[in-house]
Amino acid sequence: MAEVINGKEIARSYRMKLKEQAERLKEQGILPKLTVILVGEDPASQSYVRGKEKAAKEIGIESELILMPNETSEEELLRTINRLNADASVHGILVQLPLPGQIDEKKVIFAISPAKDVDGFHPESIGKMMIGEKTFLPCTPNGIMHLIKEMGVSISGSHVVIVGRSQIVGKPVGMMFLNESATVTYCHSKTSDLAFFTRQADILVVAVGVPNLITADMVKEGVVVIDVGVNRVDGKLIGDVDFEGVKDVASMITPVPGGVGPMTITMLLHNTIEAAQ
Ligand code: GUN
Repeated sequence: MAEVINGKEIARSYRMKLKEQAERLKEQGILPKLTVILVGEDPASQSYVRGKEKAAKEIGIESELILMPNETSEEELLRTINRLNADASVHGILVQLPLPGQIDEKKVIFAISPAKDVDGFHPESIGKMMIGEKTFLPCTPNGIMHLIKEMGVSISGSHVVIVGRSQIVGKPVGMMFLNESATVTYCHSKTSDLAFFTRQADILVVAVGVPNLITADMVKEGVVVIDVGVNRVDGKLIGDVDFEGVKDVASMITPVPGGVGPMTITMLLHNTIEAAQ
């Protein structure tokens, strides 16, 4: 029976430290500020953005939300980003993804000043992460690393299997485990015999958005399971892992909700404080 990793609690104690850091910045006359841009009215994005705003306020980060209509042109969005790049009172800029079809996401990510790239999506940030330089790390991968370390799981020499190769989670988290001397295997939608690979994992990270993809027969006894999936099924949030089945085989497992999610926002706050510092 696995220990359930309490992401909510680990996030709470991390945020207390961030709150103190925000207070120290304010004593020096610096008010840390995060500006979030949301284009369009996607309900999931609206809910994520509200969560980010609330968490920022709770630890003393000023948060500004710029809402732009769904028809916003790429040029208009780039102009807004350039204005924020030049605004010294803004320390972090986050453009919520996905963006409407008329806007090239890559162009937008390239336009954000690397000094304010609290998402860690800019190629300069990703390049620095690849060569192990200090930089803004992407929030979900960094949150996963923090959870693993907080639980005392040793990374060096372990076999980490990542299911999913997204730019936001899968790809960077594999790189971060590699930087910590794990052996890393990437699996994705074209992988044949997924279970062959997942059964070899000491640490299994699943980030694909397929409810209950990973079942008990696909994992090794004692595996540490990190479920990044967020799927709404019959009005309920569930992950990519069959929690009820897998928890009897794993040694540790993150729940959905209350696992990785709270850590993602916490790492965004961490990056914003760093940007202000
Ligand atoms: N959409 C889903 N996750 C993220 C994220 O981490 N950052 C941004 N900007 N958009 C997202």
